[in-house]
Amino acid sequence: MISAETPVYGIIGYPVKHSLSPVLHNGMFRELKLDGVYVAFEVRDLKDAIRGLKALDIRGVNITIPHKEEALELVDEIEEEARIIGAINTIKNINGTLKGHNTDYRGFIESFKKHADIKSMENIVVLGAGGAARAIIYALYKMGFEKITLINRTKKRADSVKRQFSRLIDIEILTPTECENALRGADAVINCTSVGLKDSSTPVDVNLIDKAIVIDIIYKDTPLIKIAQKKGLKGVNGMEMFIYQAIYSFEIFTGRRVDVETAKRIIGRAQK
Ligand code: ATR
Repeated sequence: MISAETPVYGIIGYPVKHSLSPVLHNGMFRELKLDGVYVAFEVRDLKDAIRGLKALDIRGVNITIPHKEEALELVDEIEEEARIIGAINTIKNINGTLKGHNTDYRGFIESFKKHADIKSMENIVVLGAGGAARAIIYALYKMGFEKITLINRTKKRADSVKRQFSRLIDIEILTPTECENALRGADAVINCTSVGLKDSSTPVDVNLIDKAIVIDIIYKDTPLIKIAQKKGLKGVNGMEMFIYQAIYSFEIFTGRRVDVETAKRIIGRAQK
């Protein structure tokens, strides 16, 4: 029952009406019999929205496209990992102090470890150089990888990512036109671009991938994943990463952790 005391949580993004986060978080509140409601805020002016969190005593929010980087600049405190990545996807309001976290990279670690035999992997190719790519690169560093290959349309952006991570992980930069050998030798190809989200294109030519596990952080099957699977490669979409980042955000909000099978059941019910 929603009452006058029910704490409010939400997701801030633009667009955000397609988001599965409200279904999942409200399902987790119900599952644990906790008082709380989680809604979607379609926000263009992030500054006003963040100020509003304090004014309205909204207890916590997730931040999604396109605000993850700007949000980092607007909170009062930032956890170490999020500062290194340069983006936040979670804000907790602790008595008027807003603390930013990044649970995307933790979600990726869980999903990657589950689907890939990371000990046998040497050549990791990351596609993209935006905020999402930076969270994934940080996750790869945390998992112990010492070098990766980064392919991005705009070299300048890739250079800046390389500089940012120079003390943590060695990054070889290639453009999409010179990446054939890297793709053929790859053990994992991880798409962190938005290519395939709304269109039928792929960020690289899938025919050049010989043996790699192909991972997309977009939570539906993109053309990249579908073509890779058709080719006989293992293709994993971003659904599991999404579920884990939500579980970790929920834990930051409430101090309680929902197990992954329960979270999957909640999503499964919503998609029927
Ligand atoms: P996010 O925060 O989700 O990572 P972003 O910072 O806008 O979003 O980054 C989007 C990434 O997708 C970038 O690597 C971008 O490449 P550029 O740096 O060259 O812009 C990549 N991207 C988006 N649309 C693309 C397209 N049509 N072809 C190739 N790469 C694309």
